[in-house]
Amino acid sequence: MTGRLDDKVVLISGGARGQGASEGRLFAAEGATVYLTDVLTEGRAVADEIGGTFFEHDVTDAAAWEAITKDIVAEHGRVDVLINNAGIFRIAGLADTDRELWDTMLAINQTGVFLGCKAVAPIMVEQQSGSIINISSIAGLRGAGMALAYGATKWAVRGMTRSLAQELAPSRVRVNSIHPGIIDTPMADEFDRAGVREMVAERIPIGYEASADEVAKLALFLASDDSAYCTGSEFVVDGGMTA
Ligand SMILES: NC(=O)c1ccc[n+]([C@@H]2O[C@H](COP(=O)([O-])OP(=O)(O)OC[C@H]3O[C@@H](n4cnc5c(N)ncnc54)[C@H](O)[C@@H]3O)[C@@H](O)[C@H]2O)c1
Repeated sequence: MTGRLDDKVVLISGGARGQGASEGRLFAAEGATVYLTDVLTEGRAVADEIGGTFFEHDVTDAAAWEAITKDIVAEHGRVDVLINNAGIFRIAGLADTDRELWDTMLAINQTGVFLGCKAVAPIMVEQQSGSIINISSIAGLRGAGMALAYGATKWAVRGMTRSLAQELAPSRVRVNSIHPGIIDTPMADEFDRAGVREMVAERIPIGYEASADEVAKLALFLASDDSAYCTGSEFVVDGGMTA
């Protein structure tokens, strides 16, 4: 049976659980060779389950990005898809955002994406093909009144995506961002901690929180050649929240 990602080599950060794990499972089922990375070693079990490979990796570590991509190229000679998916979320307005939270948020959500692009883009340019998918948020499309630092990073990811798309388009490397709404993953527990989950859920026009699979299906489109003419664009999967 042919899959939509046959012969593609895919690297997904934050792949131990949630959306990253879901993308790993779907992509493997569609024929891809999948590499998952995460600070959580639970990612190893996910990789084993799908016949993929796991690297324990902190996205803020530039040297580790280089080492991982070197290993993949040594094994397969290419990287076709990068999903910069790893991220953290904290509900905190200005008053509750100290320098430490700000720096940590930027290091993981923003610099982590930069470092991923920095390590993988030259490989894609060399092969004159590739798809980079950066996971932003609806918090990168509008204000995030409850989450200042998180919102800042997700706007940055959206901006980086467009800039990089312009830079890499002549090399046939595509760069797009995905903007999920409320997705039922461990990250959404933060809404419970802050006591706002019900209030947030009531603002979803379609009436329910998405599963990680619903985002993975969009990522599959962007990873596959079906999206060959899409670059520098924002793809929203939010049940109508920003409508
Ligand atoms: N869940 C939502 O409602 C929602 C909404 C919009 C956007 N997003 C974005 O989707 C992406 C995936 O989130 P999720 O919903 O699957 O949440 P999640 O918390 O289940 O998964 C995030 C993964 O990133 C990993 N991670 C965190 N810091 C890391 C680091 N320094 N290095 C490597 N890995 C690290 C975590 O260990 C975890 O496995 C994130 O970028 C998030 O901001 C999520």
